Amino acid sequence: MTLDAQITVIRNKFLQELKLAKTSKHIERLKVNYLGKKGSLQALMQLLKDATKEDRPFFGKQINDLKFEISSHLENSFKRLALEEETLKLENEYIDVTLPGRKHFWGRYHIVTLTMNKMIDAFVSMGFSVETGPDIDSDFYNFEGLNFAKDHPARDMQDTFYISEDLLLRTHTSNVQVRVMENFKPPIRCIAPGKCFRNETISSRSHVFFNQVELFYIDENVSFADLFATIDQFFVKFFEKPIETRFRPSYFPFVEPGMECDIKCILCSGQGCSLCKNTGWLEVFGAGMIHPNVLKAGGIDSEKYSGYAAGIGVERLAMLMHQINDIRLFTENDMRFLEQFDL
Ligand code: DAH
Repeated sequence: MTLDAQITVIRNKFLQELKLAKTSKHIERLKVNYLGKKGSLQALMQLLKDATKEDRPFFGKQINDLKFEISSHLENSFKRLALEEETLKLENEYIDVTLPGRKHFWGRYHIVTLTMNKMIDAFVSMGFSVETGPDIDSDFYNFEGLNFAKDHPARDMQDTFYISEDLLLRTHTSNVQVRVMENFKPPIRCIAPGKCFRNETISSRSHVFFNQVELFYIDENVSFADLFATIDQFFVKFFEKPIETRFRPSYFPFVEPGMECDIKCILCSGQGCSLCKNTGWLEVFGAGMIHPNVLKAGGIDSEKYSGYAAGIGVERLAMLMHQINDIRLFTENDMRFLEQFDL
């Protein structure tokens, strides 16, 4: 093939390949293939050596012209494609600053935690320390030590999840009482917040797990008056308004005498409404003077010391405070319910 023809072939081949180039990368590759050290134009230059002396300037110019043509094509195409690519990239990265921001959900404490913390704060501010006991406990701390003999009918008051003959899920936070008595000397003034479990049918009023705050005070000459004053003060701190209380006799094996505490309905102030079922009063918790047998079980001299104890249901207080009518709402994790409480 003559040099002339070769130049034409390379030129046409280049133009065809240029048409197919769709990205700046393709252009760079073409540049290497045609203008690079081992490229087609360099090969033509080699052939120029074989041309006659007379032909050489003519073909030399033709090859140079082709080189110039190819490099300007490549330069233009490269600029165009690179610009297109950059624009596309920016379009993909485009941020519309006028769009409203995405909503972030803030975490918050669960209503039961909030209520529990408020109870703890109130008691701590009154000089109570905080003690805890295990969720899985022995029959002794949950029942026997609290004056429930093995065949005591009061055991039926609390349906129990047994793990073995001796181990169970505690049915109340009263299991902390004897434990603390074993480890501390009077005066003892503490609360024990925590989870409790009962093998009950779940309904709007009862659940298999719930929380209680136990409180007890043991010293010389502790009397009912101490209990009443403490409870009244607690309710003022918790509800942040004066609350009228009423105590009724009741029975729990670990206290003598035992009683239940009611508060004047916080919704109708005693007038009668659906919350208090028209009685004007709300049943809140159990309490009493610690039974001498319990003090003995904890190694405390029941002749010298006396004490009071009470156990308050956390969910029960939260339900009263916020007029929640179904205890199951606490464990269903429905955000529409949980979002309502910041306390
Ligand atoms: N432990 C009892 C319950 O869960 C509540 C209770 C009643 C606790 C009287 C006490 C008390 O400390 O004195 O039903």
